[in-house]
Amino acid sequence: MSTRSVLFVNLRRIKREGFESLVAARRLGYRVVLLGRALPEFATELVDEFHQVDTYDTELALKTAREIAANNDIAGVVNFTEIDVQLVAAIAAELGLPGMPVEAAVRARNKLAMKNALTHIDGVLPKFARVGDLADLREAVAHIGFPCVVKPTGASGSKGIFELHGEADLEPAMAELSRIADPAFDAVFRQFGAEFIVEEYLTGDELSVEGFVAAGQVHSLLLTDKVTTVPFHLEVSHRLPSVLPAAAQEQIMARAAEIVLALGFDNCSFHLEAKWDGERMGFIEVAARPAGDYIASHLVKAATGVDFFANVIRVATGEPLRLTPDRDLHAGLRFVFAEHEGTFDGLDGVTELFEEPGYDHVFTEVTPGSRVALPPANFGSQRVAAVCARANSREGLDALLDAAGDQIKVRLS
Ligand SMILES: Nc1ncnc2c1ncn2[C@@H]1O[C@H](COP(=O)(O)OP(=O)(O)OP(=O)(O)O)[C@@H](O)[C@H]1O
Ligand SMILES: [Mg+2]
Repeated sequence: MSTRSVLFVNLRRIKREGFESLVAARRLGYRVVLLGRALPEFATELVDEFHQVDTYDTELALKTAREIAANNDIAGVVNFTEIDVQLVAAIAAELGLPGMPVEAAVRARNKLAMKNALTHIDGVLPKFARVGDLADLREAVAHIGFPCVVKPTGASGSKGIFELHGEADLEPAMAELSRIADPAFDAVFRQFGAEFIVEEYLTGDELSVEGFVAAGQVHSLLLTDKVTTVPFHLEVSHRLPSVLPAAAQEQIMARAAEIVLALGFDNCSFHLEAKWDGERMGFIEVAARPAGDYIASHLVKAATGVDFFANVIRVATGEPLRLTPDRDLHAGLRFVFAEHEGTFDGLDGVTELFEEPGYDHVFTEVTPGSRVALPPANFGSQRVAAVCARANSREGLDALLDAAGDQIKVRLS
């Protein structure tokens, strides 16, 4: 093993994704130094050195990163999480490592700064406006019209996405958003606080683009088709590669490249979310990190053979990317939802499900015995499990994911 190290800033909350990210660095021969709020149990044997820091405290985190670099040969600094994009950019700049420009990192994290930087690109943005309070929202909606969506500018994980269909929806949405946009509810709100954006409602098929920017070059790997719940837009399923027509995919890839370059992204992975209305792409947002929901950690590899997480390490250390597929399969996942609140007691039907070889994994996302609640009380716990499958065709994949939804039952008490 080399004596060079990769500096990780925090790990993804989902253990299996965190695990895969650490394994990717080790497989490429690096030591792992972790700077983060906590060292989860599963990571102890994969992390060579752990430095516990409140990573919301940028000055302290930067100081610790400098100390780490003084004692280690750091080849690159990586984030797999949304909230650490800016800190990782700042550390890369400070240590002279490949990274994303610090100004671009703000645009990656704040949905308003992001949209403000893209107004010159024709026809991709929904109408949008900044919202601080109910009066702002009323004024903005008068201009944007219904339906529209109001959401926090700096959150992720679909925390606080409210559809607005008429005047009566404005006050309840703002009341909920003011309650949610509080660091006590979720620490993500320590970064941008109670700032919101209202957007015209985009229609069409929802999708994401998974890719990288390396030394100023955009590499869009593939498109993922996505389905979300009504009305809170929690992800239900992801299927890849997309089956949109080739001409649509070409246009979307071209738009995605234009967007990430206009934002100044560089030396990072990206996960761009959009809708395709049959004629044009409507842009939702782009994250400067790999996709979650097991897309980057498991599905891309299952469908194409490309190791997305290994490439996240490569882009951070300045190594050439390896993005050539070695297979041509269809992979996807569907979440299993709790139908009401209660205590999660486990899943029925899993053993029977695995009689069918197309299923790769069933992951639980909630610990058995814990309470689950539905949005808007809680945005994270309704999805209790995820089923991943693989097939030779999209039809085959659809059949597997549909059957999984029927077969797996959530036990609640
Ligand atoms: N302008 C819009 N028009 C239509 N749907 C939207 C719009 N904005 C958001 N949504 C829906 O809400 C979802 C979450 O929105 P967004 O990606 O902006 O928030 P997020 O908190 O970053 O979510 P996540 O981390 O899950 O991607 C989108 O994937 C989409 O389904
Ligand atoms: Mg999003």
